[in-house]
Amino acid sequence: MCGIVGYIGREQAAPILLEGLSRLEYRGYDSAGVAVFDNETGALAVHKAGGRLQVLHDRLRGGADLHGTAGIGHTRWATHGAPSDVNSHPQVSRSGRIAVVHNGIIENYSELRAYLTGQGIPFRSETDTEAAAQLIEYFYSGDLLAAVEKALQRIQGSYALGILCADCPDQIIAVRKDNPLILGYGDGCNFIASDVTALLGHTRQVSYMEDGELAVLTRDRIQCYNRQMQPIQPKPVAIDWEIDAAEKGGYEHFMLKEIMEQPEALRRCLSPRIRNGEAVFEGAVLNQAFLETMRRIHIVACGSSYHVGVAGKYHLERLTRRPVEVNLSSEFRYMDPIVDERTLVIVISQSGETLDTMAALREARRLGAPVLSLVNVVGSSIARESDQVLYTWAGPEIAVATTKAYTTQLALLSLLALWMARRLNTVSDEAYQAALAGFQALPEQMEAVLSRREEIRSFASQSSSRSSMFFIGRNLDYALGLEGSLKMKEISYIHAEAYASGELKHGSISLIEQDTLVVALGTYGRLFSKAVSNVVEVKARGAGVLALTTDSRKEEMARIADGVMTIPDADDLFLPILGAAPLQLFAYYTALLRGCDIDKPRNLAKSVTVE
Ligand code: F6R
Repeated sequence: MCGIVGYIGREQAAPILLEGLSRLEYRGYDSAGVAVFDNETGALAVHKAGGRLQVLHDRLRGGADLHGTAGIGHTRWATHGAPSDVNSHPQVSRSGRIAVVHNGIIENYSELRAYLTGQGIPFRSETDTEAAAQLIEYFYSGDLLAAVEKALQRIQGSYALGILCADCPDQIIAVRKDNPLILGYGDGCNFIASDVTALLGHTRQVSYMEDGELAVLTRDRIQCYNRQMQPIQPKPVAIDWEIDAAEKGGYEHFMLKEIMEQPEALRRCLSPRIRNGEAVFEGAVLNQAFLETMRRIHIVACGSSYHVGVAGKYHLERLTRRPVEVNLSSEFRYMDPIVDERTLVIVISQSGETLDTMAALREARRLGAPVLSLVNVVGSSIARESDQVLYTWAGPEIAVATTKAYTTQLALLSLLALWMARRLNTVSDEAYQAALAGFQALPEQMEAVLSRREEIRSFASQSSSRSSMFFIGRNLDYALGLEGSLKMKEISYIHAEAYASGELKHGSISLIEQDTLVVALGTYGRLFSKAVSNVVEVKARGAGVLALTTDSRKEEMARIADGVMTIPDADDLFLPILGAAPLQLFAYYTALLRGCDIDKPRNLAKSVTVE
């Protein structure tokens, strides 16, 4: 969603802000803007443009024309008010003296707006953010920090704010509540950003602001305050992501690059967790004492991370014989969930910032359940609020549609299921060792799947002109279908739906007709014959069928399907991980043929930090 960058230093700020914003483009946005303090005029120069960042970049000649060494920038994903120049951030106060960039939602903005309008303060935009800028100015009488503090007492909702004032050109104020904000420490300069990728080109030393904290940045110092405005000293940590990890590296799209990075991502995720023939997970939640009292497991996540939970449930229940429930975070938080201190709540999130998942995490902890999170972004809010975090170590994921985060999350959850089974004595020694060997072979198997990329590409011509697709499968293949269909719909804009094959006859088969493409998933050996029957059934109704199965079953499937993609034969644990890659590629090549904006699909944002 929206992105924030701020810089205060000795170099010209505008090019640094624009470069930082370009690294946040992947989050999804529809307009962009910057505000820089101009030494010559003693005022803030604010420039904004609807549409792509390139428009603003060109207008400002890459920032060359905008003089000043302190500034804030923003990419906006419209929530309050249409995407337009006037609604873009920075939003400025009536006098133009105070500029604000904001991620999140100010929930009581109508009330604030009505109050300020009543005080004779006119509003220009439709945004909630303008209320913050106007309110700070309303309270401002020469002390910016005091004005911000007063304004925060009146503002309700979630926010990460960057504030610049023409009267205090040597400082930027940053505030965080329920929306991520990072402080970056440079040499003679300091930064704020909503996402570390914006800072990769400038500094590796960052600290993550906690909820309720406020920071005053000057060129040589960052002073932080807690909720009670007592000075605090956060400890900067070093980011170990390389800058080229956030660049395309010769690929046409980040999505393809990230698909191809999966073998390496799986290696990074799994190999440190398998030592001396044992899986290693010990921690604050994952310990023998807790496992012995654990009654059930509850998985909570959104989107693809939720699909990881659906697949993981099959593994966890089969291996540990403990009941597992999987819920969408947006449902969990309002459903009065039955969890307690004997329930393990597993929260899954690539970004670690998804608002609904964060709220679900807090609800679970409030009810006394220990929360274990599977997260990709190190230091993110979900990671920090969990009782124990397992990082996927997939590296930065820039494309909006997740790929390597999905497969590493699922690999990690599957390895965790095996570890639990070992501790609970519900897996034989032999099966445990065989599965561990399988995990070690997984990155290479993934390489084998990706080497079939051109073959998968050839199937995209069958799909690119369709208006509707069904992804059908049973058990693990159903979970895989959920992810396959989401990949297809989000980047190609073709209607794609996942269906549990056994349910087809209970209604949806009426939608199968001549033009429908059915992607029939039949990787799960135990139910392969049923997958075959379902293919016959939909073919009889005129559907075109593209199947996915394992190498040893290719021939049999090829007798009935119109096309067959395969993955290597593997233990059940690995099927939905390996199977995801051909479906990612299939969606990717379909979207490519349709000329879609693959890395930044319409209406979507990389991390969903509003409800
Ligand atoms: C789909 C996709 C989304 C995310 C979802 C949750 O390709 O990326 O469905 O999986 O928004 O995001 P995280 O995992 O960051 O909580």
